[in-house]
Amino acid sequence: MTKLRLGVLVSGGGSNLQSIIDHCDSGYLPAEVVIVISSKGGVYALERAKRHNIPSVVVSPKDYPNRQAYEDEMAKILRSYDVGLVVLAGFLKVLSPHFVNAFQGRIMNIHPSLIPAFCGEGYYGEKVHKAALDYGVKISGVTVHFVDEGADTGPIILQRAVPVMDDDTPESLAERVLQEEHKIYPEAIKLFAENRLKVVGRKVKIIKGRKIDD
Ligand code: GRF
Repeated sequence: MTKLRLGVLVSGGGSNLQSIIDHCDSGYLPAEVVIVISSKGGVYALERAKRHNIPSVVVSPKDYPNRQAYEDEMAKILRSYDVGLVVLAGFLKVLSPHFVNAFQGRIMNIHPSLIPAFCGEGYYGEKVHKAALDYGVKISGVTVHFVDEGADTGPIILQRAVPVMDDDTPESLAERVLQEEHKIYPEAIKLFAENRLKVVGRKVKIIKGRKIDD
């Protein structure tokens, strides 16, 4: 089986990138990370790519005259690596419809809450967890979804609940949620790689796997 070629977009520490690389290396994922693109220089995600001999490049919006030129550059790089799935892993830029249409149905994102709670414009990083704690929810969680033209509005692939503790801080909740992110993102990518995700309107149907004795 040919491996799914992943282009991972990052802006920070890259612990999800690491989890994806590890799940490729272990053979769990029939995929390989072929290019890492960071919107910022000097972030630890770039170091992780380097350690695994994965090509990486910084494409920063501030180096381009406008959003379209910035996104065109990323699209050009992703195409040159023949990427089959674009994986947003802590990528802090919202992609325009121009870019989303260019990779229609082939962009995934992970968000550290149960969408549609605590998501959309302005909800990123610890702000998500602070909002969940301020609201007083007893359960938060993780969502993996396809990216559409909106902010965190695309069809949901997988979700998992994570309990909120009475003494949680945004940091402690983020850490517990992150542990779950590291499991659920490889699961969602595996389903895509096995061609088992079918988008019907807003819903993502998961096609059952073949049994060994089929
Ligand atoms: C994760 O919580 C992810 O859900 C959010 O940004 C964080 C990135 O963490 N979009 P990392 O860079 O993968 O460690």
